[in-house]
Amino acid sequence: MTTQKTIAVLGATGMVGSRVIDEAGARGHGVLALSRKPVDGRPGLTPVAVDANDPTALRDALTGAATHGVVPDAVVVTLRTFPVDQEFLVGATRTVLDVAAREGIRVLVVGGAGALRSPGDRDLILADDPTYVPAEYRAVAVAGIAQLRACEDSPGADWVYLSPPALLEPGERTGRYRRGTDTLLTTADGRSWISAEDLAVAVLDELETPGTDRHITVVHQDRQAVPGAGSA
Ligand SMILES: NC(=O)c1ccc[n+]([C@@H]2O[C@H](COP(=O)([O-])OP(=O)(O)OC[C@H]3O[C@@H](n4cnc5c(N)ncnc54)[C@H](OP(=O)(O)O)[C@@H]3O)[C@@H](O)[C@H]2O)c1
Repeated sequence: MTTQKTIAVLGATGMVGSRVIDEAGARGHGVLALSRKPVDGRPGLTPVAVDANDPTALRDALTGAATHGVVPDAVVVTLRTFPVDQEFLVGATRTVLDVAAREGIRVLVVGGAGALRSPGDRDLILADDPTYVPAEYRAVAVAGIAQLRACEDSPGADWVYLSPPALLEPGERTGRYRRGTDTLLTTADGRSWISAEDLAVAVLDELETPGTDRHITVVHQDRQAVPGAGSA
């Protein structure tokens, strides 16, 4: 039986964050939904207004100062800006890691596929592989790598960095996915994709049953594909 947790989601209004709060709620976990514009409250979900540019507000949201003493067991970082703002992304992630290290909160960062290794060449980072990351997406990919480095520079924190596959978009919750570590995964037909709903399933699986890998990735699992990996 899974122990119920309190999970903070930073970026709760986003494509990924909104699916993560739905999946967490459906599994009976308490949710602290952190965003600039608070999401609607519902049983088990506490909206917390936070601008991640404000380290004090971020600390207060994670240490209980802004939540009547509720300190989450885990925080999921699902921040994104348009255009990409690497300084903001790394700064907010560092603040989360610092607070989490002090409070004993597990951190799951939903980052970018660009930080993965290329499937055909382990020495090639996807951000440097134009087959997967065209020039116009390179700055986003590089920012995702900087976010991973911020995690690696935080030895005191209990973190995991989840790189989505190449394509991540709203879709169906199938509960079927395959999990890997630091190399891009593809489906049997060679595509690298997952729905945001299934990515949220993978996020909650990782929080409920933490693995030992720091850098993980997932991909959609076809119904007929190899058994033994992916779940829910
Ligand atoms: N294939 C890939 O590698 C791939 C594809 C898609 C996404 N991703 C990654 O997945 C993660 C989540 O992306 P997404 O598509 O879910 O992004 P999204 O839909 O744009 O949502 C971003 C979230 O960040 C929040 N945010 C931005 N600035 C903030 C601030 N100053 N304070 C508080 N919250 C702030 C937004 O809240 P507001 O409502 O306040 O703006 C929103 O909730 C990102 O790391 C992204 O790079 C990767």
